[in-house]
Amino acid sequence: MVIILVGGQWGDEGKGKVIDYLAARADMVIRSQGGNNAGHTVITEHGEFKFQLIPSGILHPDCLCVIGNGVVVDPIVLLKEISQLKERGIEPNNLIVSERAHMVMRYHPLFDQLEEEARGDDRLGTTWRGIGPAYADKVRRIGFRMGDLQKAAFMRKKLAFVVEQVKNPILEKLYEKPAYDWESMLEEYTRYARELDPYIKDTFPIIQEALDNGKKILLEGAQATMLDLDFGTYPYVTSSNPTAGGALTGSGIPPTRVDLTVGVFKAYTSRVGYGPFPSELLDEVADQIRERGHEFGTVTGRPRRIGWFDAAVARYSTRVNGVGVAALMRLDILDDQPLLRICTGYDLPQRCREYVDRVGELIGAPVQLIGTGPRRDQFVTRGPDLFE
Ligand code: IMP
Ligand code: MG
Repeated sequence: MVIILVGGQWGDEGKGKVIDYLAARADMVIRSQGGNNAGHTVITEHGEFKFQLIPSGILHPDCLCVIGNGVVVDPIVLLKEISQLKERGIEPNNLIVSERAHMVMRYHPLFDQLEEEARGDDRLGTTWRGIGPAYADKVRRIGFRMGDLQKAAFMRKKLAFVVEQVKNPILEKLYEKPAYDWESMLEEYTRYARELDPYIKDTFPIIQEALDNGKKILLEGAQATMLDLDFGTYPYVTSSNPTAGGALTGSGIPPTRVDLTVGVFKAYTSRVGYGPFPSELLDEVADQIRERGHEFGTVTGRPRRIGWFDAAVARYSTRVNGVGVAALMRLDILDDQPLLRICTGYDLPQRCREYVDRVGELIGAPVQLIGTGPRRDQFVTRGPDLFE
């Protein structure tokens, strides 16, 4: 039995809580994309846990937690998360990492930052965790996989090539930054290899065996549909496929084995980073929801942009992922709002909105009512209700 869990909006829907609930009943939880740009919060009787790489199922000792082939793993962060768990008395003996998963290397977060800075006003608002550059190198076939850590001679040869031939010339000539010393880097990765060795496995046969034995498997999605590289608001997206399709390629589970996709939605919407957000609120209601809901990034601490529930986005997510069951989270945060709104749709394309705004400017009154056809529903209203 396989359940895929996906975020239905722009992330931070409260997936961690739903995963924790489902993981209690699952035999295996698999992360299949993203990296430590994710931040899943789980609150238990032992306090609050924030996971970035380790699947949230780790708190259930009988649940095997897999970091799948589609994830990009920063070994420094993984080791830190493992030691934090140990400090709190949790031995992650139920954790395995796919040897096919790519690594976020020393230089990836730096390139993430340098590229963002170079974009200036067009920046994407990434988390600076090196996620985009790591996936780009995977596609360019100059990435390092977790399994490479176990091949010393290969690591040495490839690190010398990638650092000397690809990374350093760009750093020095384009960004005027100091070059990396690949030999000291090699020493560093040799240490990670030793410490992570017990966790690195060929996860494919393990997952296949679990499928054959009818085990309950949960695919833990990170990020969300609207941040999907293909189906999200490109280029304001993350560099992986957080949708149901990505869960399959990122774990090696065939589509015919999936039983259900659960879509997680928040009762309102939030977004970190730049890019389109049609139901965004820019008034004090946004501030109230942000404060009440502690809507600040788990990873970066940035204040999240806030908006009403966008049913058009949610419907789109349901279709992209084939969502069969929805979870609606954080309803309590809206408790003290006297008026709740739902965005049910919007059909004005950007160029059209610009035209309408320009007309409004020229006539000296905001255009709030727009006819788009003879039918009753072919009528776009903007701004607050006129009787309010
Ligand atoms: P990146 O994944 O760091 O490349 O960032 C790309 C975009 O995805 C930025 O807008 C980030 O704020 C957003 N993003 C990445 N991971 C998450 C997440 O876990 N929750 C919410 N937004 C995210
Ligand atoms: Mg998050």
